[in-house]
Amino acid sequence: MKTIGVLTGGGDCPGLNAVIRAVVRSGIKYGYETLGIRNGWRGLIDGDVEPLTDFSVSGILPRGGTILGTSRTNPLEKRSDFQKIQYNMKKYGIHALVVIGGDGTLSAARDVSKQGIPLVGVPKTIDNDISGTDVTFGFDTAVSTVTEAIDRLHTTAESHHRIIVVEVMGRNVGWIALTAGLAGGADEILIPEVRFTMDSVCKNLQARYDSGKKFSIVVIAEGARREDIGLPPVPEDIRDECGNEKFVGVGLLLGKELEKRLGIETRVTILGHIQRGGSPTAFDRVLATRLGVAAVQLIDAGKFGQMAAIHGNQITSVPLEEAVFRLKTVDLELYELAKTVIGGRR
Ligand code: F6P
Repeated sequence: MKTIGVLTGGGDCPGLNAVIRAVVRSGIKYGYETLGIRNGWRGLIDGDVEPLTDFSVSGILPRGGTILGTSRTNPLEKRSDFQKIQYNMKKYGIHALVVIGGDGTLSAARDVSKQGIPLVGVPKTIDNDISGTDVTFGFDTAVSTVTEAIDRLHTTAESHHRIIVVEVMGRNVGWIALTAGLAGGADEILIPEVRFTMDSVCKNLQARYDSGKKFSIVVIAEGARREDIGLPPVPEDIRDECGNEKFVGVGLLLGKELEKRLGIETRVTILGHIQRGGSPTAFDRVLATRLGVAAVQLIDAGKFGQMAAIHGNQITSVPLEEAVFRLKTVDLELYELAKTVIGGRR
């Protein structure tokens, strides 16, 4: 029997366990056994693996997070680490890998694949920023969580006649802010793709106030930036191990400034990792399951270097190279549409 190795890398997201379960169970059908690799690429470097069986994946479908653990380890940072990966692939008789990850993990997968390691990718991220697939699992769950939060914040903002700023995840893209902002009826949506100015945000909120709407909900993605302020270089101590900027609360800065300029009492809620935790929605469970099965089918067909994807309602695959070539930024037409349905601005 051939062996598949499965790993989860990068930030966790709801639906990872559904993929793992689907890989193990469809693997059995195609004649493979599965080894779970702990903590992303780290586990393959250290030889930290565990056999996964039909029985051991029972009950994990609705669970958030990843039973395998995750890390942001870059497998190619040190030549010696890559050699350990080659050694462990042989030692554990791993025929091919299923690498479940976001942009960083899949970029590494592309490079590792080019070095001759047989693997396929499965895209995951709450950010929905992977090209080559219409949507990533985890996104629907995060949007549902944020929408519920916005609904709750609406009632308290309205009762207290306040502005409430809701900061959501989205380092480089504003898919969560835009989609949940639309679903929750936000009055201002600020995303990394479109720089904003304080003047225009204040003008919009003041117009709402003047029209009789004495409260507002502002949704801002953590990576949104002001056009009127240059970007200072990000110091090393607020970067994670992959060099990504750790966010320090653009929502807080915005809230403070709005209160000062508009004289309207303002509160700020930073949703943070709440957006990544918890049980996946039915949509994410089904998508994750379909992608997990597709990954095994790709391996069985010897189609390495590919990423399982969804286009329309069809599961398909694209070369990893194409998938990680650029981030999928928000649909600006949808962003414009969101503006047309915001009340109290005219
Ligand atoms: O990449 C997904 C993501 O959720 C980003 O939106 C966010 O900036 C980042 O992960 C946070 O990562 P960490 O868990 O390292 O704080």
